[in-house]
Amino acid sequence: MSKPVGIGICGLGTVGGGTYQVLHRNADLVQARAGRGIEVVHVGARRDNPDCPTGDTPVSRDIFDVADDPAVDILVETIGGCDVARTLVERAIDNGKHVVTANKALIAEHGNALFERAASKGVDIAFEAAVAGGIPIIKALREGLAGNRIEWLAGIINGTGNFILSEMRDKGRGFEEVLAEAQQLGYAEADPTFDVEGIDAAHKLVILASIAFGIPLQFRKVFTEGISKVSLQDVAYAEELGYRIKHLGIARRSDSGIELRVHPTLIPAQRLLANVNGVMNAVLVEGDAVGPTLYYGAGAGREPTASAVVADIIDVARGLDNPHASRVPYLAFHRSDLPAEPIVAIEEVETAFYLRMAALDQPGVLSKITQILSDAGISIEALIQKEPQPGADTVPLILLTNRAREGLLVKAVAGIEALESVRGSVIRMRVEPLDG
Ligand code: HSE
Repeated sequence: MSKPVGIGICGLGTVGGGTYQVLHRNADLVQARAGRGIEVVHVGARRDNPDCPTGDTPVSRDIFDVADDPAVDILVETIGGCDVARTLVERAIDNGKHVVTANKALIAEHGNALFERAASKGVDIAFEAAVAGGIPIIKALREGLAGNRIEWLAGIINGTGNFILSEMRDKGRGFEEVLAEAQQLGYAEADPTFDVEGIDAAHKLVILASIAFGIPLQFRKVFTEGISKVSLQDVAYAEELGYRIKHLGIARRSDSGIELRVHPTLIPAQRLLANVNGVMNAVLVEGDAVGPTLYYGAGAGREPTASAVVADIIDVARGLDNPHASRVPYLAFHRSDLPAEPIVAIEEVETAFYLRMAALDQPGVLSKITQILSDAGISIEALIQKEPQPGADTVPLILLTNRAREGLLVKAVAGIEALESVRGSVIRMRVEPLDG
């Protein structure tokens, strides 16, 4: 058997500590699957982790010592963030080390340059843990579905956001209260706006889309809308219409290019994805040959994320004796000879819409609203009008439209908002049937 592979772990927090422990607990299995020993030879961490005793493993307070250690073959980056992590990964690559990372922001924002750099050095960067924690979705897209043309994918890829929306629906709890609990439970990012404003999901979506469609990582082009404005009222009206609100990351191949968008979305309540609750993640992928496939599991957490990191370590270790170009973690998206597919502007995207407005309780109001929509060629699929509450001069009016180009819908909504008989802004959310 070949000599053991030396692992250096940088960052001994939740994911790094979990990785250290899974590697030790499952050492025999990992060795058998890698075809050689896997040994943690160096840990870099600013402080000890009381939940992860490191025994005899050398620990450096300067993580760059790990990147410079000749005994390290694979550097595991679990420090998170972009600045130090990028410099660390570059140093490891330049020193001829392979990299395994759980860092979605790093891959989404700097991946193109890092993959180029790694290819020029003949080393790999593996990042299964960066998307949807323990769900092997990168492997599924890259290997299991390699024979398919991927048409679209839609995922619940932020556990914190899904936890918030699930609690709002199931228990009628308010947004702020549930977010505070998600932070206490340790699901949320250091900056929870990354979770609730969709930035974390956009990081993950762009990685999925790059593999699914073979396009460069284009984080800045993802349309991103968060869930902080989703109200209990909208959750309840969606339910009444037979839908659930989920914060989805959607990547779709359309006639005009690739759609990349993260936003609250109404999906039919009977879809499996609509029933993914709490902090769980799920990704639905439609391939031309296989049809729809669904991947479900823990999207965050110590050992689920470590599960993905260890799988990457095994993959990289198995490929060490092969030439770089023929290793399994094959990435096409940094190749400049591929045709560039444009990213579709959100104004050009077509979806159905949920609209909620406060209308004066007067004759003719409804007909003015429907006229504006019909003039724009937008038809109404469903409508709820509630009786006026005592003391209120407006009534809630909820509409579901058919599919319309977003730019057209926005104009029609501006027309509705300009009506004297409509008060305040029109709340709008996109609706996706997810049926093909
Ligand atoms: N904050 C992320 C989430 C952690 O809630 O899904 C995993 O990336």
